[in-house]
Amino acid sequence: MKDASPAPVYLKDYTPFSHLVDEVHLTFQLEPAKTRVISRIRFRPNPDATAAPLRLDGEGLVLLWAKIDGNPVTPEVDEAGLTCTVPDAPFTWEAEVEINPEANTALEGLYRSSGMYCTQCEAQGFRKITYYPDRPDVMSIFTVRIEGEESVLLSNGNPVASGDGWAEWHDPWPKPAYLFALVAGNLVNHPDRFTTASGREVELNIWVRPGDEGKCAFGMEALKRSMAWDEEVYGREYDLDIFNIVAVDDFNMGAMENKGLNIFNSSCVLASPETSTDANFERIEAIIAHEYFHNWTGNRITCRDWFQLCLKEGLTVYRDAQFTSDMRSAPVKRIEDVIALRARQFREDNGPLAHPVRPASFVEINNFYTATVYEKGAELIGMLKTLVGDEAYARALDLYFSRHDGDAATIEDWLKVFEDVTGRDLSQFKRWYEHAGTPRLHVTEDYEGDRYTLTFRQETPPTPGQPEKPPRVIPIALGLLGPNGDEILPTQVLEMTEAEQSFTFDGIPSRPTPSILRGFSAPVILTRPSSNSERAFLLAHDTDPFNKWEAGRALARDGLLSMITKGAAPDDLYLDAVLTMARDDSLDPAFRALALALPSQDDLAQSLHEAGHSPDPQAIWDALETLRQARAHKLQDLAPRLYAQYQVEAPYAPDAEQSGARALANAALGLITRLDGGAQAQAQFDRADNMTQQLAALANLLQAGRGETALAAFYDQWKDDRLVIDKWFSLQVLHAAPDRAADITRALTEHPDFTPRNPNRFRATLGALAQNHAGFHHASGAGYALLAQWLKTLDPINPQTTARMCTAFETWTRYDAARQDKARDALEDLLDLDGLSRDTTEMVTRILE
Ligand code: PHE
Ligand code: ZN
Repeated sequence: MKDASPAPVYLKDYTPFSHLVDEVHLTFQLEPAKTRVISRIRFRPNPDATAAPLRLDGEGLVLLWAKIDGNPVTPEVDEAGLTCTVPDAPFTWEAEVEINPEANTALEGLYRSSGMYCTQCEAQGFRKITYYPDRPDVMSIFTVRIEGEESVLLSNGNPVASGDGWAEWHDPWPKPAYLFALVAGNLVNHPDRFTTASGREVELNIWVRPGDEGKCAFGMEALKRSMAWDEEVYGREYDLDIFNIVAVDDFNMGAMENKGLNIFNSSCVLASPETSTDANFERIEAIIAHEYFHNWTGNRITCRDWFQLCLKEGLTVYRDAQFTSDMRSAPVKRIEDVIALRARQFREDNGPLAHPVRPASFVEINNFYTATVYEKGAELIGMLKTLVGDEAYARALDLYFSRHDGDAATIEDWLKVFEDVTGRDLSQFKRWYEHAGTPRLHVTEDYEGDRYTLTFRQETPPTPGQPEKPPRVIPIALGLLGPNGDEILPTQVLEMTEAEQSFTFDGIPSRPTPSILRGFSAPVILTRPSSNSERAFLLAHDTDPFNKWEAGRALARDGLLSMITKGAAPDDLYLDAVLTMARDDSLDPAFRALALALPSQDDLAQSLHEAGHSPDPQAIWDALETLRQARAHKLQDLAPRLYAQYQVEAPYAPDAEQSGARALANAALGLITRLDGGAQAQAQFDRADNMTQQLAALANLLQAGRGETALAAFYDQWKDDRLVIDKWFSLQVLHAAPDRAADITRALTEHPDFTPRNPNRFRATLGALAQNHAGFHHASGAGYALLAQWLKTLDPINPQTTARMCTAFETWTRYDAARQDKARDALEDLLDLDGLSRDTTEMVTRILE
């Protein structure tokens, strides 16, 4: 084990930077292994800070010279930066450093990817480019000159001038260094234009490697829709003459909102019907919107420090979810988001990595780009809106934008605009930001005379470093249904503020069925015991689409839990209810497809753990197989009808309507495959002309154990398309039988197309192993060992992606002692690696604690 753990930084220690930065001039002389960066920076003492020598961050830089006001200086250089005595007045700092983009495999700072130069500066990558106060509260105006032989030379802001082998950019909007970007490459573009509400003409480009230009049209349309939506819904206009998006193959995350120059993981922007699934299209549309929306929530108003990350991320996720709801189906989007929230955030919040939406300390900020900061952060915005109402939300946002434009703001600033607009005291609401953990909401009911009483009790289990949890304000959206299924009380929001609290409803003629937490109005776990018949009733009658889906999900889950823990047979009530639901053509096909999906293996493990069992991954897998087979029999007449009825004849479009139809038809294909051994899937594979159909068919063939020929054909067809080959890697791992998963994954890591240097490929292979629940948690321990071994290989190459993938182990204490021993061995083996990164050390240490 490591002895010296890296030191954390604390929110409470925040102090402003000693200096203000008025302007920054950067010159880049690009060369693959020896790039020169010349900086000229105007500093002046910060009147709001205590005077101090100038401390600049810098990592892995070779300082060639430095000057202050034209005079050479010799700063004190250490591993993390430099310190220099400076005049007690405004001064100009100049320096030249050398960096090596080609050797940069961590993909932070300036790096090379497929022959192009690219930067990634959030959170602390700028310090790998030049010496600078690399913190978000230091904002400045950047002018950038790029010298390089590439045909396309891009940076933030507006183009100023260019010539043979150089280009100059100026960004008039003050920004922190993490929003700096530079791209240089022999790229081609997909151009377009947008005119803003006030008449600004904006040039739009999506820049890609030659050969990918045919995959830009959808992203461009999504961008224009996002620009129009932010004007209509939030009154936010774009503020530069040009907006560039660049696609890059090697990228740690999804995409990055650099001012005027968004950089995207190619998997999150490139799309075509032949190579992208409907789900890919939906995700690309959401990420384009997300990055664009950051222009206001993140860039114009940024974060004072990295503890405030949720200020930009929670809000921007919330905004992109609103956008998707408006573009597509709001109920379907809500259900998808709650599935993802539970799968990722609840899992995190109930394990060793639990942390508040606004953490109070961190070792490595890269480890806090989490489901909690992003997705739970977005849930908090949604709750706030529910509590204050739509109209007050709109006024609060207007005030936020006008009051804080140009600021590096805090959660306190954010809550204050809501307090000022509504006169409410939000100090209790703030606990949602400061306390980790998922509240459990217990409910009891009482019905007497015509009075119906609901009593709620909230309780949040302890999380690391936070044993006590005071009660939070919880908005509980409630409806009541009468015995015949009519809604007798339309949705109203109960505001729970106490640890235990009752709400009374008079004039209720007979005992109602409550529909609690409609629309998933708060990120809590509702523990109310409910009968299967009540769940079937809600699935049939609830007017709230989320709770309708939720009832079906709970019915499926409880049936599966009984199968797993008691050896019960598949629940007839569930099978009947699912048949009724699936054949109800008045229901949106996308909704029906979601209602046909079963809880994931990891969800079931989470539920079992919650109920005090140690989950047996193989038993979970077996129960799901049994239930799927039983469903296939139950729906054997319906499935072929659905399959035929929901074939899309029109030319492919990735819209909500067509993708809903395809989702339902493919759900039907899943049922059919269970009985026909894959004949229908083979037919679909053979005639598929879009990736949604082709991939679903291939998955079914693998499932049926007859995927070999199709896999080979698929590889042959797509071997030149990296993004499709990622799917080829992951599908094989995801569909591997539990006892074969580690072997199949290992064999794939020996495939010539596998490389740990490309994060997408690594995730497609080893990340997929972590998602194959019964395979990863196989009793042999082979899954744990293989992942840990590859994380040891990846860490020296790319610490950020390594650390993120450690979350595969965050649930290790749920399982039996034998598995725990094997998981601990694997983690300790990883921790033992010489020179293990700070990123991975922090993650493994927290997981083991
Ligand atoms: N800020 C990016 C987003 O949410 C995510 C990101 C973080 C990308 C860190 C790269 C590095 O849109
Ligand atoms: Zn974001």
